[in-house]
Amino acid sequence: MTRPDRLLAAFVAATILSISYAQNPEATVYTDPGTGIIFDTWNIQGNSKAGGLTFGMALPETALESDASELIGYLNCGSQNSSTSKGWCGIALGGSMTNGLLFLAYPHKDKVMTSLRFTPKYTMPSVYTGNATVSQITSRVNATSFSVIFHCRDCLHWSQNSTTGSAPTSSGLLDLGYAKSVDAPGNPSCPDEATIMRHDLGGTWTAMLDEAATDPSYNSWRSRANSTVSTCSNTSRLSMHGEIFHPRPVRLKL
Ligand code: HEM
Repeated sequence: MTRPDRLLAAFVAATILSISYAQNPEATVYTDPGTGIIFDTWNIQGNSKAGGLTFGMALPETALESDASELIGYLNCGSQNSSTSKGWCGIALGGSMTNGLLFLAYPHKDKVMTSLRFTPKYTMPSVYTGNATVSQITSRVNATSFSVIFHCRDCLHWSQNSTTGSAPTSSGLLDLGYAKSVDAPGNPSCPDEATIMRHDLGGTWTAMLDEAATDPSYNSWRSRANSTVSTCSNTSRLSMHGEIFHPRPVRLKL
């Protein structure tokens, strides 16, 4: 190979590597220093507008043999700078924005707010009406990033209206999606009423699960999830009686 050929080959290889980096299916194992929880994680690079994000999963011990219905999730959402740090991050647990369960998270004051959403169309997803619930184990907000470790019960299978689906952990491969916006949600103190703008970054990747994602300690890790962000979603139920209620303030049950 001549020198120009070698340079061209190196350039092509570097380009391919940098394009595929965000979609590398192989997980990086991450042990959270505060909790000791071990995750398979995948890092998504940001673009010129939005910072990147890291998503991780810890699963029940048998998840690679029989499909798990729940996970402990890790989401670390970074920003390019503090003026874009109030935006939201989302994970599509079915690998598509449409017809799969969507996990939405954003910082509000010193808390990380979360909401489960669902949509059949590429429009603002509405609140998921199925059984899944989220409770937090830890969260952190600083000037340019936020992170949350959360237990998501019944989040690996979903059902809304007549649409059902699942993320089959026993296959060892999950189709996942990510989305990120630098714009802060409206109505931030009530996550299920939060309004969002379309993402500045979005895409999918195939996540390869390895044995580090499953652990006999899963049940004890899960038992630490006792912090529930108020969704304020009782507002619409109560207003059926003809009275107007103000949304409850954000409340964390600790
Ligand atoms: C106002 C809210 C939103 C609008 C208008 C919107 C719109 C769209 C549109 C038009 C696409 C297809 C083209 C593209 O890639 O840009 C898309 C893709 C995507 N969106 Fe959204 N989105 C919204 C919120 C969300 C949320 C909250 C999530 C996740 C929690 C999400 C996850 C995704 C993912 C993973 C993709 C790529 C996979 C796919 O095409 O299905 N989106 N979105």
